[in-house]
Formats: sequence, structure tokens, C-alpha cells
Amino acid sequence: MFTNSMPIAVFDSGFGGITVLKQLLKLLPNENYIYLGDNANIPYGSKPKNQIIELTSKMVDFLIKQNCKIIVIACNTIAASTYDILKQKYNIPIIEVISNGVIDAVNNTKNNNISIMATEFTVNSKAYIEKINEYNKNIKITQVACKELCPMIENDWNSHDNRFEVLEDYLKNIDSDSDTLILGCTHYPLIINDIKEVLKSTNNSIKNIIDPAYHTALSVKEYLENNNILNDNHQYLDIYTTESIQKESKLINMILPSNIYYTLKYANL
Ligand code: DGL
Repeated sequence: MFTNSMPIAVFDSGFGGITVLKQLLKLLPNENYIYLGDNANIPYGSKPKNQIIELTSKMVDFLIKQNCKIIVIACNTIAASTYDILKQKYNIPIIEVISNGVIDAVNNTKNNNISIMATEFTVNSKAYIEKINEYNKNIKITQVACKELCPMIENDWNSHDNRFEVLEDYLKNIDSDSDTLILGCTHYPLIINDIKEVLKSTNNSIKNIIDPAYHTALSVKEYLENNNILNDNHQYLDIYTTESIQKESKLINMILPSNIYYTLKYANL
């Protein structure tokens, strides 16, 4: 039985998923939240599927123990590898980023040409290709695996002198005719200004940059409304990490607005 004041649980391999939490807080400010980042094991994107599934199961077991009313997979890599398994295993509503990003992308492309930046795992899984094809089989899709980006973003992006070269190297591989680019990793919205900067200086036709966080938050709102479990009084936001608390709070503070109060806690999975 799910009740209104139970928290919305949001999780990722690290703190990139806080970009999704931020959209949720904007759209559903009266909810309680718990966030979990498996910072001790990031990146997931270069791990084999069985390892991602094992790590994810531990996280979801932890979230269920916190009595949440809905789970948001704020990680494309986890959505691509484990969503179907989680849906079968747990009796709780689960919403994920990939199908939501795809809705915005297919609705925005005018020339049916979409490029996707994502982790190695997400690209190899073809999860985005399958979802886009469900809507329209005639969309040309180009995927670019950006292996180094997630670890660089998690470890102080601005301190990496080669960050623009790394980005250029990836972005030159998007289809120059694509009018829509999906940020297929929840860490990438954190460097959206640098992505835009590099796009300006490369040959491309990108008109829309899709951050799946927005539509994901909309889907959560819709689900809670339809099931009459919206909350009307925000009491807490607990952010759990599997790594050292001191080290990680800087990145959270960069993502969340300063008027958002949270308690940082250690999660022993
Ligand atoms: N934020 C995760 C995603 O959306 C990063 C994956 C990773 O840990 O490599 O895919």
C-alpha cells in the first residue's frame, strides 16, 4: 500500500541522477525524496551487464527498505540493462529515463535524424534504438559512446584541461544532419554549456538538445496524480551515497539550487 507522504526514490550510479531529482523538485516541490548514488562503484557504463544488475539489485533493495512509493531510475545505463528485470521482480511503480527522453526526441525532430550521446553500455545495448523504432522506424539514428565523460564529470569536470578536446572528439561523430541530440547519460546535462560551445564550433545541424530528465519528471507527476498519491507537504530530502560523504557534497551543491535543503547520509548496501 503506497501512501502520499512516502518518499519518491531516485537513484543513479553516482550523482548525475541529481539532474533528474532537480527537475522533480521543480515540478513536485511538495514531495519527500530519497536519492541514492552508488559513487563507490561508478562508472557503470563500462561494466558488464551481470555486474550492473548485481549492483542495481542492492540499490533497489535498499530503496524499498526506505518505504518509497515510486522508484525513478535516473541512470540510462541502469535503465538499459536492468529495467525489465526490476519491473518483473518488484511490485512497485518504476519510471526510467530512456523511454521519456525518446518521447521528447521523436516529438522534436523535424527531419527524422537523431543523434545520441551515451555511455558505452547504453550504446551497445541499443536500448535507445529499440525505443525510437517503437515510435517511428524511419528515423535515422547515430549513437556516440562517450566513455570518458561520466568519470570526468563525477571528478570535477572543470579541472580537466583536456575537457574541450575530449568533447570535440565525441561530438564530431554525431551525424552532421541530425537536428536533435539526446543527452543519453544523466551526467551530461551538467556540462550542457560546454556541449553547446563545442557544437557551435563543429559542423552540425542540431536544433534540439534533449535532456530526458524533464519528461521523466512529468511522467512521475502524471503517475502520482492518476493514482491519488501526490503529497502536499515536503518534509525531507535525504541523499545517500555509498562513498565518503565529505568528498561528494561539492558536486551536489553545484547541481541543486541553494534554497534546497538536504541531509547527506552514508548508505551501507
Ligand atoms: N548517469 C549514468 C547514466 O545515465 C552514468 C553511467 C555510468 O555510471 O557510467 O548512464
